[in-house]
Amino acid sequence: MVKLGILGAGIITECHFYGIDRIDGATVAAIASVDEAAGKAAADKYGAALYTDYRELLDKEKSLDGIIVALPNFMHREAVEYAIKAGHKNILCEKPLGINPAESAGLVKLAKESGANL
Ligand SMILES: NC(=O)c1ccc[n+]([C@@H]2O[C@H](COP(=O)([O-])OP(=O)(O)OC[C@H]3O[C@@H](n4cnc5c(N)ncnc54)[C@H](O)[C@@H]3O)[C@@H](O)[C@H]2O)c1
Repeated sequence: MVKLGILGAGIITECHFYGIDRIDGATVAAIASVDEAAGKAAADKYGAALYTDYRELLDKEKSLDGIIVALPNFMHREAVEYAIKAGHKNILCEKPLGINPAESAGLVKLAKESGANL
């Protein structure tokens, strides 16, 4: 089973659910959302662990196969960086990766240096 962790439970996360639901052997194992109602609905759908702090998810859920970053744009840099530094190796970040080219390039560099797929 491919176990995914999703940061954010907003509109685009619903689109990821649509895709995940069509992949045999893939599931959502953990979800983080400050919107607790949206997070609970998503967690209940998959029987996933629910966190309000995405950092806690990244720190505690070390056996995930992949992380999807679906947080607001301004949070992408900090969340991707935190995920890589927490040891996660497969990270899909919603567009835009960073809020400017330098921020995006910095994350790509960090991922390469850390052996993470971004
Ligand atoms: N909506 C679209 O059509 C669309 C399309 C392509 C890409 N995107 C991208 O996807 C990302 C998310 O967009 P959206 O439309 O789903 O936004 P949204 O505002 O609907 O959802 C954002 C989610 O992030 C969560 N969140 C915010 N701060 C948090 C925190 N500190 N810890 C945990 N969760 C937190 C919120 O609870 C919410 O569930 C954005 O980067 C956007 O550019 C959106």
